[in-house]
Amino acid sequence: METCDLAIRGGTLVTATDQFSADIGIRDGRIVQIAESVSATEEIDASGLLVLPGGIDAHVHLDQPTSDGTVMADDFASGTRSAAAGGNTTVLPFAMQVKGSSLRQSVEDYHRKADGNCFTDVSFHLVISDPTPQVLGQELPALVRDGYTSFKVFMTYDDLMLNDTELLEVFDVARREQALVMVHAEGHDAIRYMTDKLETEGKTAPYYHAEAHAQIAEREATHRAISHAQLTDVPVVIVHVSGRDPMEQIQWARKRGMKVFAETCPQYITLTRDDLKGLNMDFEGAKYVCSPPPRDHDSQAAIWDGLRDGTFDLFSSDHCPFYFEAPDNTGKNNDRARTSFKWVPNGIPGVETRLPILFSEGVSKGRISIERFVALTSTNPARLYGLHPQKGTLSVGADADITLWDPELQATIRQDRLNHGSDYTPFEGLQITGWPVRTILRGQTVAKDGKPTAAAASGRHLKRGTSVTGYP
Ligand code: URP
Ligand code: ZN
Ligand code: ZN
Ligand code: ZN
Repeated sequence: METCDLAIRGGTLVTATDQFSADIGIRDGRIVQIAESVSATEEIDASGLLVLPGGIDAHVHLDQPTSDGTVMADDFASGTRSAAAGGNTTVLPFAMQVKGSSLRQSVEDYHRKADGNCFTDVSFHLVISDPTPQVLGQELPALVRDGYTSFKVFMTYDDLMLNDTELLEVFDVARREQALVMVHAEGHDAIRYMTDKLETEGKTAPYYHAEAHAQIAEREATHRAISHAQLTDVPVVIVHVSGRDPMEQIQWARKRGMKVFAETCPQYITLTRDDLKGLNMDFEGAKYVCSPPPRDHDSQAAIWDGLRDGTFDLFSSDHCPFYFEAPDNTGKNNDRARTSFKWVPNGIPGVETRLPILFSEGVSKGRISIERFVALTSTNPARLYGLHPQKGTLSVGADADITLWDPELQATIRQDRLNHGSDYTPFEGLQITGWPVRTILRGQTVAKDGKPTAAAASGRHLKRGTSVTGYP
């Protein structure tokens, strides 16, 4: 056996199925040995630490222009540095098709923004907003073959949403090409009806976003998406599931043997709609505006059940970072947003706090096992999105993407400790037990003690295969 470049010694390795004491040997960016004792030219002492596969955040928005000119607070450099500081080695952002332009063109635009600027590995999901015959017939099949094996579709937002016919057409292509469709399931007409009604009653504060985006509208759209998936016989992922009602639809489909996968996010276990009230129904509430919005304690309890019992496959951040105060008035706190909740940019930052929140609220508080934590945050996203076995586990031959975790470290989430671009965190003040202390990307340390350390942007774009969970 050739000597290794790097050995990680004395830690407790955790995978989605077990935990054991071993050393890891790394050569040329890959794991080449997992054994009782490994030696190498360089060594990291991991005693007292957990050795986890690097986090994979499968739902991240970076440098996406919005239709009203609001600027995102993270580009690919700042967003992936923040991700690395939070224990992630791979993120899956979106390459969003602008209506009227070709999908291939949009993918090239996002590569121009990302290539050479990333501090974690990345791979794009495609957002299809304009499924023309050219897109469905030529561009999508070619892009899937090039390794873009997942697409997101929206059932709401004027500039993004597809109608039911278009959804069915996209699902049909996905089945043919063995790609995975992610669905933003919220019923557009119900949201519009509620928005108009609330505005007529003078209810325009950020809080009313939570009433306009009712859980009923999410439940209805989830069921509709599932029905379309059944009709076209295609696996789907329902993303950012917020509560009990849509969960019941997913469980209904699973009982019938359908391949419906589900994702939830930190905001749905830590926040409620009351956070959107701010201090006294004031504009502070805009800091929590995301879609679907956080619900209530009953939904939080349901989400925990789902994280434990396998209803959820994925725990992602849905990092969608905006400024609160932006000097050029493009932040959440902009003039137009102050006239109605409907103009507040939707989305909150969270790529750096996703893993600490699930570890602390889940593992440290005894709600989920450490193996389940690894499954939800690394192994399942790798398997579902075509990155397995290169990513998402600790095994010989896999990329040496490793997060060293101190399960005892106590910290409080504070904006001034984070590395994201936003000027606030919606999780300010949350007490955390367990934090990543070192992030290793293909054998190189990219973050240490909560700070990015990589001098160069060594993240690569990953060409993905077919989902091993979706198309076994
Ligand atoms: O409010 C959210 N989640 N914004 C991000 C876009 C999306 O729908 O995922
Ligand atoms: Zn590229
Ligand atoms: Zn969405
Ligand atoms: Zn999102």
